[in-house]
Amino acid sequence: MSVDDRVRGEFPLLSRMLNGERLVFLDSASTTPKPRVVIDAVRDYYERVTANVHRGVHALGEEATDLYEAARLEVASLINASPSEIVFVRGTTEAINLVAHGMGLGPEDEVVFPESEHHANWLPWRVRARPVPVPIDADGLPQWDRFESLLGPRTKLVAVGHVSNVTGAIAPLARIVELAKKKGVPVLVDAAQSISHLPIDVRALGIDFLAASSHKAFGPSGVGFLWAKRELLDRLALYQVGGGMVSLNEELDGRFVPRDAPFRFEAGTPAIEATIGMGAAIRFLRSIGLGAVREHDEQLGAYMLDRLRKVSGVRVLADGLPMTERIALATIVVDAPGMTQENIARALSDTFGVCVSGGFHCAHVLHARAKLDGTVRASPHVFNGEQDVDRLVDGLTQIVG
Ligand code: ALA
Repeated sequence: MSVDDRVRGEFPLLSRMLNGERLVFLDSASTTPKPRVVIDAVRDYYERVTANVHRGVHALGEEATDLYEAARLEVASLINASPSEIVFVRGTTEAINLVAHGMGLGPEDEVVFPESEHHANWLPWRVRARPVPVPIDADGLPQWDRFESLLGPRTKLVAVGHVSNVTGAIAPLARIVELAKKKGVPVLVDAAQSISHLPIDVRALGIDFLAASSHKAFGPSGVGFLWAKRELLDRLALYQVGGGMVSLNEELDGRFVPRDAPFRFEAGTPAIEATIGMGAAIRFLRSIGLGAVREHDEQLGAYMLDRLRKVSGVRVLADGLPMTERIALATIVVDAPGMTQENIARALSDTFGVCVSGGFHCAHVLHARAKLDGTVRASPHVFNGEQDVDRLVDGLTQIVG
């Protein structure tokens, strides 16, 4: 049995009908559907536990804390890190902002990143430092041969999306890290699009920071994590202060002592149920196995690209990039007179029951460089099969026709 046939039934959402058609969900780069085990983990917390973490001394408080900290162990073991290096945050965006703030960067400090990045890995550097973008080509692919020359005495960080949310291209991390390390520059990896598609070992990669969200990896929204090497985490300035992150707060002329990392970065009551759900999502992902996910991705991605290429009036971005260097994600430009790319995405859902993204996918600079007034993005995952791609292609063929 293929992996998609094996797991599809685990996702209640996928049994939904949309305008009389069986829902075809091809928008996992935006957010993934949630499997039953994740929904159950969240419900179980509400129905059986419901208590704050690291505060309540009663039995429920202890159970909540155990479930919450078990999620930290899941995250740590997924990426081969130590749990004390995992900070829970709201998502990838907050993780990157935490680093941008915590490093204490100034307007002269340079951060090198590809121009194709999602706004989450663009705007923090624009606002807090001097952005030094790696130029991209007309298809939105970074010109990595120009990367080394951008590293200079003022470079404080290299920040790179592991997988582009627009082209699906996998960044050549080994080479990037090698060149950055030669200049003593730390590397941050935005793993929002890779965390549920590719195996990640932060130690083997030799990187310094990794940011990711739960909701693109079968977990609830509102939670994600920052991983940082312990010595870097200890040096980051506090991002937020408040309850739960302090071990001592004396009167105004006394001492204020934050807790050790990671708790010093987790002020306020966290997204407890979402974090527990994230732990369940990681267990689910590992039960499938990232090797199996990758194999399925390569096969379905190749099928999708092949079928899309044959639809007249459809152009696939970064079409020439082989499946070994991308995930199963296709961003296309559809030539249908009188229709915007958003209109096309809407028509796919309303007429054919196919959900895809339409617009700029939080990557305005990429679209500007490629001179594109929006695109349509199909992003399957492990529960999709060839029949889902066929429905997309049929819909596009009719729209273009
Ligand atoms: N970052 C998400 C996307 O690329 C929302 O669609």
